[in-house]
Amino acid sequence: MNTKKVAIVGGGNMGLAMAKGMLQTKWADAERMMIAEPLKDKLEHIKGIAHGIKASHSNTEAAAFADVIVLSVKPQIMSHVLDEIKPFMKDDKLVISVAAGVTTGYMEKKLGGKVPVIRAMPNIAAVVRESATAICPGKYATEDHLSMARNIFESVGIVVDVEESLMDAVTGLSGTGPMYVFQILEGLSDAGVKVGLSRDVANVLAIQTLIGSSKLIKETKEHPAKLKDLVTSPGGTAISALHSLERNGLKALLIDAVEVAAKRSSELGSKKEQSL
Ligand SMILES: NC(=O)c1ccc[n+]([C@@H]2O[C@H](COP(=O)([O-])OP(=O)(O)OC[C@H]3O[C@@H](n4cnc5c(N)ncnc54)[C@H](OP(=O)(O)O)[C@@H]3O)[C@@H](O)[C@H]2O)c1
Repeated sequence: MNTKKVAIVGGGNMGLAMAKGMLQTKWADAERMMIAEPLKDKLEHIKGIAHGIKASHSNTEAAAFADVIVLSVKPQIMSHVLDEIKPFMKDDKLVISVAAGVTTGYMEKKLGGKVPVIRAMPNIAAVVRESATAICPGKYATEDHLSMARNIFESVGIVVDVEESLMDAVTGLSGTGPMYVFQILEGLSDAGVKVGLSRDVANVLAIQTLIGSSKLIKETKEHPAKLKDLVTSPGGTAISALHSLERNGLKALLIDAVEVAAKRSSELGSKKEQSL
């Protein structure tokens, strides 16, 4: 178990998912964890997630308490939160942010000194400890800091290291990714109903098909195109369906969606930089 004190600022979906992951894998100890959150009702809920965990309405208390401060608030209020915690920052603390579009350079400038900063982009599957997270270091973060961040995000899924210039691309692909998958699943479920299945049966079949296909691709490490060839027999159902998908531009739609989400992440970041 790690001996650092950890604070999570923002006890929303992502903040609580990370807290639970760290506690479940026993990377962090509840006695050494504090979650800061403005809403009183939520504070009560937070105290219930683990015996001994600290909940505070004060971000400054959390920043003073912890060695590792994980910022899990919306990008729009990051500026305010960084200003609040700045007086409590020292160069031996580590700040990790999961906010879309907020760069390490922006955080470093706001915090001043040589505070080590790491930017991360997880996704909502962190709630079930199946996130795909990318991390990148700021200019004062060391290999030890990166290793600590890897441990934190490995407690809620898998982690890859990327250059910061690729973080907007990551946000477009895997940060936003669960939304694409939910849309695809909803579409498949509707399709099942259209061809006569009950909604429940259509949902179960669509979800398991997605899980099974993902597991197959993960375990065989085959290229998707090769697995697609495996299931498209001459003159069969799959090749007819594939023709329809190609005609309607499914892959182009997905490429467009990822591109536009990556662009939006970059715009959110640029707006912040300009405000400095
Ligand atoms: N959700 C995702 O799929 C996802 C994926 C990747 C990255 N992220 C990033 O994760 C971050 C959090 O997202 P989320 O989905 O967890 O949002 P969320 O559920 O809205 O959580 C944000 C939390 O911050 C709290 N908060 C608001 N103002 C605060 C303040 N001044 N100080 C401390 N806490 C404050 C909110 O409390 P109230 O509810 O009381 O306002 C809320 O509990 C965002 O930056 C987002 O970009 C999210």
